[in-house]
Amino acid sequence: MHAAITGVCGYVPPDVLSNAALADMVDTSDEWITERTGIKERRILKGKGLGTSHMGAEAVRGLLEKTGTSPDQVDLLICATTTPDFVFPSTANLICDMVGIRTIGSFDVQAACSGFVYALTVAAQFIENGKCSKIVVVGADKMSAIIDYTDRATCVLFGDGAGAVLLEPNRRYGIIDTLISSDGSGMPHLHQKAGGSRMPPTAETVAKRLHYVHQEGAAVYKFAVARMAEVACELMKRNNLTSADINWLVPHQANRRIIEATAERMKLPLERVMITIYKYGNTTAATIPLCLWDYEQKLRIGDRLLMAAFGGGFTWGGVYLTWAYNPG
Ligand code: ACO
Repeated sequence: MHAAITGVCGYVPPDVLSNAALADMVDTSDEWITERTGIKERRILKGKGLGTSHMGAEAVRGLLEKTGTSPDQVDLLICATTTPDFVFPSTANLICDMVGIRTIGSFDVQAACSGFVYALTVAAQFIENGKCSKIVVVGADKMSAIIDYTDRATCVLFGDGAGAVLLEPNRRYGIIDTLISSDGSGMPHLHQKAGGSRMPPTAETVAKRLHYVHQEGAAVYKFAVARMAEVACELMKRNNLTSADINWLVPHQANRRIIEATAERMKLPLERVMITIYKYGNTTAATIPLCLWDYEQKLRIGDRLLMAAFGGGFTWGGVYLTWAYNPG
């Protein structure tokens, strides 16, 4: 029995932050950002008291409505996020409450930009072993909450958004193979210094701006290019796939150059690569479900999709699946 994606929905907040607007905030330009990253604009969640759960709940509400699923039919909800509303309770718990899903297991998965691939991998086990028949997997991040808008090296990259998929058992189509991996020695290159148990928040940590993403871009770039391609090629190799067999690469959207390098290593033309980075930036755990949402109308039953992600940790992973439905 495969775990098949039987519906997808996304949510991006209405406020757009363009490259031109960023150029008014820090020493950058539309030209630099477009050329070095492929990003033209990103969405920012504004509104007092709105956290990641707000976007996750919007995506899940849309998903339930679209797939004709009532909240009481859902067996499990997993939310991948690096920007939870609170340290606890989990954002998954909050999303369930907001959409009226009661008394089921729900929890967060934290694997930075690889979070959605990790969460999908975990969820698939519950379908494959017969424990669950309807699982909602959410990828949601409000990166604007942890980005330093005085740091031009990071603030141009990230945006806010959420995506959700429904997973159900299917004899013919669905997830065929998954791969997750990590290397914690990557921490110095990409992390948030303060706010956790190692350096709890104090007036000093706030004054020193330690609650923001710290990224050594060039070092992370090297790992990202290598690992994204490795994971995609490994999944192709062990499933006897050539590039001709892949209908769509669904890559994490961190930088258009990383996406292009991955496709090149796979010998896959860019027409078969999902790209949304130009309009959403890097939405961390939300990039892959947002891609599926954006390209849903182009997907056909039986299409072979290969997801690949790389992120903080370092973490990386991939999922090989066949698409289970035609567009409605
Ligand atoms: N505008 C103008 N100039 C800039 C900007 C900017 N926004 N940002 C950096 N620069 C400058 C730098 O200061 C540097 O100037 P210098 O040569 O005078 O020192 C120059 O541009 C080159 O800087 P690099 O960091 O080498 O630029 P690079 O081409 O590597 O691009 C980037 C930077 C876009 C961050 C790239 O390294 C990247 O994409 N890294 C990987 C990101 C990633 O995959 N992250 C993992 C997922 S995120 C997660 O898990 C949370």
